[in-house]
This record gives sequence, structure tokens and C-alpha cells, in this order.
Amino acid sequence: MHNMKKIYLTTPLYYVNDKPHIGHAYTTILADVISRYNKLSGKNVYFLTGTDEHGQKVQEAALKLNTTPKDHVDKFHQNYLELWSRLNINFDKFIRTTDEHHVNKVKKVLQTLWDKGEIYLAEYEGLYSVSEERFITEKEYEEGEYREVKKLKEKNYFFKMSKYQEQLINHINDNSDFIIPESRKNEILGFLKKPLDDLCISRPKSRLEWGIEIPFDKNYVTYVWFDALLNYITAIKWDSDNDFFNSWWPADYHLMGKDIITTHAVYWMTMLMANNLALPKHIIAHGWWLIDKTKMSKSVGNVINPIELIDHFGEDSLRYFLMREMTLGQDASFSFGLFKRRYNDDLANDLGNLLNRITILIRKFCNNHVPEIKNHDEIDEDMINKINILPNESLKNIEKLKINIAIEEIMSLVRYINKYLELKEPWKILKNNNNDLNGLNALSIACEAIALSAKLLFPVMPSKCNQIFKILNIPSELKYNLKFGQISGNYIEKHSALFPRIEDND
Ligand code: MSP
Repeated sequence: MHNMKKIYLTTPLYYVNDKPHIGHAYTTILADVISRYNKLSGKNVYFLTGTDEHGQKVQEAALKLNTTPKDHVDKFHQNYLELWSRLNINFDKFIRTTDEHHVNKVKKVLQTLWDKGEIYLAEYEGLYSVSEERFITEKEYEEGEYREVKKLKEKNYFFKMSKYQEQLINHINDNSDFIIPESRKNEILGFLKKPLDDLCISRPKSRLEWGIEIPFDKNYVTYVWFDALLNYITAIKWDSDNDFFNSWWPADYHLMGKDIITTHAVYWMTMLMANNLALPKHIIAHGWWLIDKTKMSKSVGNVINPIELIDHFGEDSLRYFLMREMTLGQDASFSFGLFKRRYNDDLANDLGNLLNRITILIRKFCNNHVPEIKNHDEIDEDMINKINILPNESLKNIEKLKINIAIEEIMSLVRYINKYLELKEPWKILKNNNNDLNGLNALSIACEAIALSAKLLFPVMPSKCNQIFKILNIPSELKYNLKFGQISGNYIEKHSALFPRIEDND
């Protein structure tokens, strides 16, 4: 364990007043899948997620519901916990920005930066977007679709973000895979061509009370983003357990949607610089889930609730669809039609039927046990070769975060197993002579191939693949063993269809 490679990955902290939809589910499933693949490759992983619980929107939502912000967040953050449990998300820590530890450490950062002269008080007059919870420029106002914009003139605290502009540009240019994908990196470099402003990091309590109090001025609370971004270090015990912190920081992957790339790539990076902390290795921005090509929004009424999909079709089919359908960095479309088609084609037909076919044949012709592989012909050699190549190929793509391509490679093997069986027709051979080595080999090799496919699909569909392991009697210590030659002799259990077809009226 000592020299084991470590991976620290994070999701954004979700706003607690929103009901989670498939966009939120996607970011967290992506983190879970990357985390599980890294474990499969023998790495030690720390996976952080949580909720963003301060700010104006929460305060307003609580007021509307006639409750206090504290009671509101205590109740609503559970929506996320429930969804992550239903989705089989294996996080290591769930942080809430109202956690006492986090609150104390945010204060510590503020005090330190104030003492170092990195924060100053100034009067500011400008346009304030309530929906975005930040000051916006005239230009942004003209170009953007900001709701509830008002003119505000007030004294606030500012973080000297501008002084890190040069350093940040250099860092981005020197580390070509720091911001992924390339298009987002260019967007940030474009943004950094204009002079960078200092960051307003306070809100007067007269306007907003629900936040972390600025330790050197009781009349103010901290800006919600300044508070929330710090979670990435407070969660791993920055300033309280340095050994632990240093063993995980800097983060390997900060995952997020493209809408919050600026806050991470600019605000957060300059905050780290001011605190003399190393920058994360990769900031990864994924695209939007669109519903039939339009944006998901409460006002359009097209928000997809993941819990309903899980209730109907199980969590693994949702995990599979979201991972298979989106190319990281690009937008993707969700529709029930697409969802059903993917499920029926890939899971019910290709994977589910194949498993059935193999287990029924082994139970029928081989006395319920996977036969030994004794000798092979060219078609077998070709199949074995494909099995041997797949783990490396697909894990290489996972490392490059080409998750959908890796899944497609695994599914091509699954489809090829079906073809292999058609070529070999073991049922015909064994019907005439149930000791025929050619027929027995084919069943054994096909079973080996499907076992490997299940091991490689496990990070995407943990429950279903665990079921396959049970059916094939693969012991848990072999789940991570991707070498050929594991399955001979195993007893094959009787089972029902793993992915029952979705019919049109479902
Ligand atoms: N609270 C901030 C993040 C603070 S991080 C220190 C926030 N929260 S959010 O709940 O609005 O969004 C969380 C994540 O969900 C973001 O990565 C966002 O991009 C993602 N998504 C929200 N809607 C989405 C889609 N329709 N599609 C894909 N992801 C989207 O921002």
C-alpha cells in the first residue's frame, strides 16, 4: 500500500435548494466511474462530493417555505444523499459547507489572507445579478441573460485576484492538459486576455445573513463561491491534519459542468496561489445534458428526475446510458426513446441475451460447470487474442477520460462473443457428442470473455456486474484480476434475465 498511486477527485458541491436532476447525477456518476476504474487499475482513490449550502438563494428559499436556512439545508441536502445512495455512488466524503470544520477553516483562510494584505475594503458600484449571486460587468449584462439584475453601491471586501493574472496565464500555457477540453482552455485564456478584476468576496449582512461571517468584520459574510471552493481543501483536513492533506493534495481531477469553469479555473486557482498551495492537475469541464436538444429548466418543465428512472429501470441502466452517450466535453441529448433503445440494444440484447445463452449452454452440455480449455483452432485464437488485448486498450481510454469509447470497446467484445458463438456453433457440435473438445472449448472461451466484460463494466454497472459474478461464481478477490484463464471449473448458477426488455408501454 505504501507506494500506491493516489488519485483525489472531486465533484462540484451541489446547490442544496435545487432538486437533483440528471445533469447533477451525471457529474457524480462520472466521478464514481472514474474512481472505480482507478481502483480497478490498482490505485488508491479519495472521492469527494457534497452540498453548497450558503447564499442568497438558500436564504430566499427558506423564507418562502417559512423556515430557517439551517432547517432548510438540513432537510434538503438529504435529497442528494438519497440520490447518491440510490445510484450506488461510492464517495469517500460528503462535505456540507455548513459543517463546523469547514466554516472554521474558511474563516482561517480569510484571516490569513487579510493579515497578508491579500484582501482590502473598498466601495463598489455596479450591477448585481441575484440569480448568479455576483457582480456582473456592463458588457456581461448586455450580452447575457441575467435575471434579477439591480444596481448596487456598497462597501465590500475584495481579494487581490488581479495580481495573479500573469501567473495563471503562464500556468495554463505551460500545462497543456490542465484545463480539459481544449475548447474550455481557450475560453479561459480568452477571458484572461482582458485585465482581471479583483474579486468581491463579501456580502453585507444587511443584505444577506446566511453565510460564513468574515472574522475581521462582523457586519459581513463571505461570498458563497469563496466559501464553497475552499471545500476541496477543507474536506481533506487542510490545516488540521497536514500528513493526510499532503497525501492527497493537489487534486488530480476537479470535475464540473462547463457553466462553472471560470469560477474554478480563475477564482479558485488564484485563491490557491494566494495561499501558496499547489494547483490541481486537471480541471475537467463536461457539456450539458439537453432534453431533445433544449436546455433542461424548471420553467420549460422538462427536468428529468433521476429517481423516477431508477425506480423504473434500475440505477445501472441510467449509469450506463449517461456514461455511454456523452463524449466528455460535448453536450448530449436525453430522451426516453434514446434511453429505451440503448437499454434494449446494448443491455437486453447484446449483454443480457449473451449471458443467458452461455449459461444455458454450459448448464445443459457441461453439467453446470465451465469446461477446461484444452486446445484451440484459429477462431478460438482470435477470440482469446481479443480478450487479452481489451483490458489494456479500454483502461488506456479511461485514463484519457474517453469513457464512452472504452465502454464501446467492451461492448464490441460482447457483440463479438455472440458472433464467435455463431461461428463455432457449440450447441450443434455438443448435441452430437457432448465430449467434443472443440465445442467445450468454445463455451469455455465465451464464458471467459463475458466474465472479463463484466469485470471491465463493473465500474459503470456495479450491481448488475456483481450479479454476473454471482452467476459465474467469480470470487470477489478475482473481480480485479483481468488475466485470461480464471473461469474453468466454476459452477454456473441458474438465473433470470439480467436486463428484461423494456416494452413500448413501459
Ligand atoms: N454550487 C455550485 C458549485 C460549487 S463548486 C465549489 C453549482 N451547483 S449546481 O448545483 O448548480 O451545479 C452543480 C453541477 O451540476 C455543475 O457541474 C453543473 O454544471 C451541473 N449541471 C447542472 N445542470 C446540468 C445539465 N443540464 N447537464 C449537465 N450538467 C449540469 O454550480
